[in-house]
Amino acid sequence: MGAVGVAGLLAACGGGDDEPSTGGAPPATTEPEASASEPPPSSEPPEDEATTPAGEPGGEALTTTADVPVGGGVVLHSAGVVVTQPSAGTFAAFSSTCTHQGCSVTSVADGLITCDCHGSQFNAADGTVANGPAEQPLPPVAIVVEGDQILAG
Ligand code: FES
Repeated sequence: MGAVGVAGLLAACGGGDDEPSTGGAPPATTEPEASASEPPPSSEPPEDEATTPAGEPGGEALTTTADVPVGGGVVLHSAGVVVTQPSAGTFAAFSSTCTHQGCSVTSVADGLITCDCHGSQFNAADGTVANGPAEQPLPPVAIVVEGDQILAG
């Protein structure tokens, strides 16, 4: 009972505050209280993803467009990403972890991403397998191109 009264007073702050005591109680007593007390999503513990920037548009800067040759690409070992430019002005990105046995892919040339561990090759345009022994494509990675910057998407 007392809690309802307090909630009623709080709810009254936002609206008409003339006659909350007689008859017409403010309709919402528990719902606004519950939603207002929810913490914002950003306050969740970050666990071990310490490299994820908060509030940066487009995410972490991976490389620049000038560093990604047309028909080739660049392997970003620290980010675990391979960024390619299959045709001028078109960029793609994939996980740099080979789907065969988990080596990091080594290089990009002539439209092919190569893993030197056992020789698998993947198409730089879409990550699909061009030559085995890998059987699964490289998973795509979302990127955003802003000016000459390539950011994690
Ligand atoms: Fe890449 Fe085997 S781990 S080809």
